[in-house]
Amino acid sequence: MNGKMRAVARAYSNIALIKYWGKRDANLNLPAVGSISMTLAKLETISEVRFREDLSQDLVIINGRKAEPSEADRVSRFLNVVRARAGLKFYADVSSRNNFPTGAGLASSASAFASLALAGSHAAGLHLNATELSILARQGSGSAARSIFGGFVEMKVGHKKDGSDCYAVQLKDERYWDVCLLIAITSEKKKEIGSTYGMEHTARTSPYYNQWVRKHPLAIEEMRQAIEEKNFTKLGELSEASCLQMHALALSSTPGIIYWNAATLECIHTIKELRQHGCEVYFTIDAGPQVKAICLSPEIEKVKIALENTAGVLRVISSELGAGATILESNP
Ligand code: DP6
Repeated sequence: MNGKMRAVARAYSNIALIKYWGKRDANLNLPAVGSISMTLAKLETISEVRFREDLSQDLVIINGRKAEPSEADRVSRFLNVVRARAGLKFYADVSSRNNFPTGAGLASSASAFASLALAGSHAAGLHLNATELSILARQGSGSAARSIFGGFVEMKVGHKKDGSDCYAVQLKDERYWDVCLLIAITSEKKKEIGSTYGMEHTARTSPYYNQWVRKHPLAIEEMRQAIEEKNFTKLGELSEASCLQMHALALSSTPGIIYWNAATLECIHTIKELRQHGCEVYFTIDAGPQVKAICLSPEIEKVKIALENTAGVLRVISSELGAGATILESNP
């Protein structure tokens, strides 16, 4: 059996247009709100998992280096879920590689845990369908549940206590619409406050948290409609509103969390100016200082040049919609 329990999988990252922020159950990692995202073709994680009889602990390598204890621990806890489900006792050799900066608000946990869910379950001999994979990936990271699918994806908030109705579904595949995303990198540093802690802190201390949770279903409904109608203006306006509300929550917690730097704000102004001059582009920002610009493909070059010329921007990555997670190699 040794040497055969191996699989390699690829998953693309995703960016939420309607944000997930807050959990209703931290142990099962159940979100307090649904979310809608775009999967991105240019940001990928490739993970290899090999279960081995001869290991006395999991060995986790991220981007060619031994993972930090907290990261290795998170991967091991995730593999425990896979092991429990497969009735497997062996530890694993895990190697994960991103083609983009890790932990800087570029949703590395999304592609990381989606690729781990797929590679890990295959290597363990489990044959899960897409819904089961999404539920599994969610237990590693909420946003990872969405990266199982390509195109536009909705994460269902679910209502059941065991999380069995809390998974992502594809709204439209990657060929549906030429919506693109440009990421203005304003810092290559690892973010100081991860989303898991940021959410928990916000839920505990922001006076606006309950209102966010209550109003959220409407934002989901409106975004679903904007995508269905291919109404780009509506998609953009809803994205900016959800982003600003999420950051307003973080700012209103005690002590307040500020994910932005000076260049983040500069980019917001660049995007608003472009819009005033007839170039339709909108922004969204996650738990870090990078700014993501959303536009249709004919506008990419103009937006790229404007962001590259914005003070504090280090580089710009652009991406069209990407596909769902796939197995690259497996030895069943
Ligand atoms: C701001 O999925 O990283 O990117 O479930 O604790 O791993 P955990 O959180 P994570 O949070 C993502 C937060 C966000 C918004 C989003 O992607 O919906």
